[in-house]
Amino acid sequence: MYSEKFQSSIAAVAAAREKNIALEPERMTAQQKEDLLAQYHPDYKQDEFAVLKIGPNKGQKVPIELAAMLQAHSRIKAGDVDLTNPDYETDVLIIGGGGAGSSAAIEADEAGAKVMIVTKLRIGDANTMMAEGGIQAADKPNDSPAIHFVDAFGGGHFAAKRELLSKLVCDAPDAILWLSKLGVEFDKEQDGTMVTTHGGGTSRKRMHAAKDYSGAEIMRTLRDEVLNRQIPVVDFTAAIELILDENGHAAGAVLMNMETKELLVAKAKTVIIATGGAGRMHYQGFPTSNHYGATADGLVLGYRVGAKLLYPETLQYHPTGAAYPEQIFGALVTEKVRSLGAKLVNVHGEVFMHPLETRDVAAASIIRECDDRGNGVDTGNGLGLWLDTPMIEAIGGEGTIEKRIPAMMRMFGKYGIDIRKEPILVYPTLHYQNGGLDITPDGMTTNVTNLFVAGEAVGGIHGKNRLMGNSLLDIIVFGRGAGQSAAKAAQTAKVGKLTLDHIEKFEQEIASANIDTNEVSPKLLPNYTRRKNEN
Ligand code: FUM
Repeated sequence: MYSEKFQSSIAAVAAAREKNIALEPERMTAQQKEDLLAQYHPDYKQDEFAVLKIGPNKGQKVPIELAAMLQAHSRIKAGDVDLTNPDYETDVLIIGGGGAGSSAAIEADEAGAKVMIVTKLRIGDANTMMAEGGIQAADKPNDSPAIHFVDAFGGGHFAAKRELLSKLVCDAPDAILWLSKLGVEFDKEQDGTMVTTHGGGTSRKRMHAAKDYSGAEIMRTLRDEVLNRQIPVVDFTAAIELILDENGHAAGAVLMNMETKELLVAKAKTVIIATGGAGRMHYQGFPTSNHYGATADGLVLGYRVGAKLLYPETLQYHPTGAAYPEQIFGALVTEKVRSLGAKLVNVHGEVFMHPLETRDVAAASIIRECDDRGNGVDTGNGLGLWLDTPMIEAIGGEGTIEKRIPAMMRMFGKYGIDIRKEPILVYPTLHYQNGGLDITPDGMTTNVTNLFVAGEAVGGIHGKNRLMGNSLLDIIVFGRGAGQSAAKAAQTAKVGKLTLDHIEKFEQEIASANIDTNEVSPKLLPNYTRRKNEN
């Protein structure tokens, strides 16, 4: 329910609605986009970044909060565990129970490997579960993987590793087929063809969705498959350190029971990091659309054993996080809302950008409109802009919102806001880490043998900005790929004597670089305890 103070602005938005629906906002030129990003996108705020002093990316900048974790002390000393007497032994150890980890587990199991998932929360507590708008795949007659590649390559500022992006788009149609066969219920037309829509930066309608809870539908299906296959899942158990063997190959992980803090040793022929994103690092103080456990753990685990990062300085701020009411501050308002026709308008009811610019450009436009041009709406908890959802019903007809984005309708409905009749307030929210561990197309890290990565912990698939729907796609494509590759590598892997020598080596690097820190990492969970004097 909007209080009195919002009413005059809501009236201005309603008065301009018909005109705004007809309006075709111009696309920005490449130069305009570059200038906008440089001035307003959070990735360009130099004082929010620190230069790494140690490790494989020494000399490169990363967000200050991430630098603190990458250059922190281990949670353990090598002598804290007995590596000669492992608690678990497996072929493929998968760290993370989201979409990428589950896809990897299914494929590794299918290939005949002994597989085990460890997850610090529960299987399915993951960004996959929270994904809304859909998954891209070029499987319509007017589309092709080549066109999908061009869209994503441009959207990512031509920085994607071509071989990774090429795998992503070429394997996409098969990913949709695989998910469908497992039981994912994608939205379909009467004749059974897939309903597909646009996302920001797409030149074809290739977004496949299950209404606006696509991730939950995919995650529920993958979780069922993992459980049906009786793949062991050790939940509420975090990986806190990777184990190498004497040859420097990945060979397991030290685990910590999240409740009892008991330490356990998992020995493995291959390891897959599938730990997801970093929204709960709250870079630059942003709220997040991410799940509770998104704390960049995989990047820390990999970095400490020498795995390289690619583009760790690039984050994605989803343009439309909920800005009001406070109870859902930062929650995702899917881009599908704009795909269905809703436009962003300012406090005066004016359209100020094309609704389907790429995410970095859209987020920067919103920040400029609010913070620089003074056209934001005071929410009582910061600024926001209107996303004029009633346009959807005006364009698509009554019932479109309930049919296509029912979860959005319910999320706002709980607070007395009927998005069919009233616009909603949005502002960018920390959504995705574009960067991560550097891999080859088979999923193995470029410099640690038998250490694989899949999902949001990978860097380079999307370049420096990701298009909507390419993340649900990458967790499937690279999750499956990593599972297959790790199972294959496990067939010939000879694991030497296990060691945690890298911990001491890393400590020496911290000392030589004069890094003065009391931090330990990985972070595992965000710390929301109130400090003294906070109310
Ligand atoms: O807007 C969304 O539904 C988010 C999708 C994505 O990040 O791919």
